[in-house]
Amino acid sequence: MKALILSGGHGTRLRPLTYSQQKQLIPVANKPILFYAIEDVIEAGVDEIGIIVGPNKEQVMETVNSVDWSAEIEFIYQGEPKGLAHAILVAEEFLDEDFVMYLGDNILREGIVEHAEKFKKSNCDASIMLAEVKNPQQFGVAELNEDGTIRRLIEKPKVPPSNLALVGIYFFKPVIHEAVKSIRPSWRNELEITDAIQWLIDHRYEVRWTKVTGWWKDTGKPEDILEANRLVLDGLKPKNEGEVENSKIIGRVVIESGARIKDSVVKGPCIIGHNCKIVNSYIGPYTSLGKECEIDGTEIEDSVIMDGSKVINAGRIVESLIGRGVKIQEFDHMPRGYRLIVGDNSSIVL
Ligand code: TTP
Repeated sequence: MKALILSGGHGTRLRPLTYSQQKQLIPVANKPILFYAIEDVIEAGVDEIGIIVGPNKEQVMETVNSVDWSAEIEFIYQGEPKGLAHAILVAEEFLDEDFVMYLGDNILREGIVEHAEKFKKSNCDASIMLAEVKNPQQFGVAELNEDGTIRRLIEKPKVPPSNLALVGIYFFKPVIHEAVKSIRPSWRNELEITDAIQWLIDHRYEVRWTKVTGWWKDTGKPEDILEANRLVLDGLKPKNEGEVENSKIIGRVVIESGARIKDSVVKGPCIIGHNCKIVNSYIGPYTSLGKECEIDGTEIEDSVIMDGSKVINAGRIVESLIGRGVKIQEFDHMPRGYRLIVGDNSSIVL
């Protein structure tokens, strides 16, 4: 089985971060979201991976190529993101056998090994993964027949027929190529994967499903990144490769090499990245600090702070998503007030 991992798209809901950074490269617990998908497909026995790249393709290729993966990786350029089924269309030549399609912004606790095994054993034409959710109106939802087989897939239904949402991981036999060529673009002018799967169902191909039991997160919006960060940090194994001086380290904390913590309190689960400098600060639960961050005289909790950012005498920061190379500091001159230089589509809560 091959894998197709999608790392294209504009990621508009994560602006301004996605103006300069492809969504799938945003770190969760200091690892690009995309890497979780690559690890999952390799764990399921895949040794040839195609990665769909789009707007920031060089960035994705460079980041992926910085790791020595135990699988062959090919990048497939999509051009404009015209839908998930369109990604299959552009990758047709690569996808000459059964494959798993994995949306590169999805994170799954339990991986896909069991789901892949079931697909291989069942010999069905496609297998989707479903997860119970509290808000099915916001997802693609499956309507089931009485015998538990899939009758219909509906995008964001106003009146959901079930609470079973479509997870962004799908298993296909090559017949899916016929399906993606047979469907028409949707109202949002995209070739929808739900339409392609519905085409299989309507033409009596066998489409099965498996249920996701552990947590699953689709990281489309800022609050999803923070939630994924919490979920991953919950499984953290502590280690200390840095230097700690006159500080208290409580709970499960990872301190990466070169990090220095002085006169501070760090309460896990959290990660302090490579070469970070923390002085006179409190770093609270569910915080990930990327590499080379500097935190001085500040309290930070439940947040993701990316590489090279500096937060100095900034009071208390919570539930925040802060990009790379950002500087936040106290303004200590007159006149008092907030002094902001903020990019397009930023969000600030004071
Ligand atoms: P979406 O989250 O539906 O789209 P998006 O990433 O463009 O985000 P937004 O809605 O905020 O603008 O896409 C799901 C995943 O599939 C995501 O990892 C991006 C990827 N994708 C592609 O690679 N090609 C495409 O044509 C589309 C639509 C998405």
